[in-house]
Amino acid sequence: ALIVQRRMKNSAKWAKAMAILKDFEEKCDTPIGKLKQVADAMTVEMHAGLASEGGSKLKMLISYVDNLPTGDEHGLFYALDLGGTNFRVIRVQLGGKEGRVVKQEFTEVSIPPELMVGTSEGLFDFIAEELAKFVGTEGDSFFHVSPGRQRELGFTFSFPVKQTSIASGSLIRWTKGFSIEDSVDQDVVAQLTKSVEKKGLDMRVAALVNDTIGTLAGGRYDNNDVIAAVILGTGTNAAYVERASAIPKWHGLLPKSGEMVINMEWGNFRSSHLPLTEYDHALDLESLNVGEQIFEKIISGMYLGDIVRRVLCKMAEEAAFFGDTVPSKLNVPFILRTPEMSAMHHDTSPDLRVVGNKLKDVLGLLLSFATLLQRVEPRLSAAGILGILKKIGRDTVKEGEKQRTVIAMDGGLFEHYTEFSKCLEDTIKELLGEGVADTIVIEQANDGSGIGAALLAASHSQYND
Ligand code: GLC
Repeated sequence: ALIVQRRMKNSAKWAKAMAILKDFEEKCDTPIGKLKQVADAMTVEMHAGLASEGGSKLKMLISYVDNLPTGDEHGLFYALDLGGTNFRVIRVQLGGKEGRVVKQEFTEVSIPPELMVGTSEGLFDFIAEELAKFVGTEGDSFFHVSPGRQRELGFTFSFPVKQTSIASGSLIRWTKGFSIEDSVDQDVVAQLTKSVEKKGLDMRVAALVNDTIGTLAGGRYDNNDVIAAVILGTGTNAAYVERASAIPKWHGLLPKSGEMVINMEWGNFRSSHLPLTEYDHALDLESLNVGEQIFEKIISGMYLGDIVRRVLCKMAEEAAFFGDTVPSKLNVPFILRTPEMSAMHHDTSPDLRVVGNKLKDVLGLLLSFATLLQRVEPRLSAAGILGILKKIGRDTVKEGEKQRTVIAMDGGLFEHYTEFSKCLEDTIKELLGEGVADTIVIEQANDGSGIGAALLAASHSQYND
């Protein structure tokens, strides 16, 4: 009798837990009709953001990049890539059309967490110090610096910036867990330059770019058909090539190319069509940037694991799923990170070290979870991409016309989750139909933003005629 009683108790728990899960599943359903509404809303917001400053949640930032790499770039250039918990410094020797990327080296440094929420000086001094160390290892035998020539840097700064030229711009606000108040509204290039000079390093920032812009530039260098770039990693964002005449808020001269690259900052997109659950709302309320970056909070890697944690928490509280008390670790925000999620998804062994012994029993459940969430993100990203394709008229193909639209994609989510990229591609097919979908190629950017920033530094070098 005891055994039967225990089983019943267990199964009641199980049923309650499953009900919580099922409810969650229903709320984050993304049928194709809904995705199309999301795509349409994205297109509408793109127009509004281009029409006037502050016209939309989508900032549609002007990058001052009106020419993408041609292959002629040559010389030694540096790039600095700052946008997540690590930053990278790259050195690349460009050899023009023949040589292409002759040689490159990089170093990666993790940012002490306290610097992500400290002062501007603290962060930039730290970066300048690492940059100076790296420059010190140049070695004349491999890299060729022309004598008397100042070193030039492409600075990839992956946060929203209101640019005032190709090499200056002020930070609008931090995202992705950074919060350094005294940097907001300040010119990020001036801040970096101040620290670089303090270190006695003779280096000039020749281009300030978002990671999406760097990825687009790097993508175009490899493939002429690249017209947009999407980042799906810690954060999410997209950039694309727009007709300059389609940007009413641009009052400058029309560039010769007739084009201007736009950093959409699509992470800040929101729409009533997005499948927002109670967990998304709770996560937003406890985040560093309440009410902002809603699309990013639904689809990017930084927040994905925490949604799972929140659902597990509810199962622990309301269905006593992990015993009579809620495991204390479950109450720690961001304890489940995306790599753990990915490991759960691919690990079929019963030993799920990453989530600890308590959760071993619920392997099956967790797997269905990971699968579920990993379907929501790529599907919504596909809807975002469709929004861009519609805006630039690449969602249809004229009869007899040969058209190829390549989107360079970078970031951990796309790179490390095979399921993710497959689902993204399938959803694009589902949205566009086989014919058009065949003209759209999602290409993984190999090293994305770093080389791209160096290329843009090269094309904006002070030594060009
Ligand atoms: C965040 C930033 C954006 C960046 C993206 C991907 O959304 O605001 O500038 O491109 O993360 O790194």
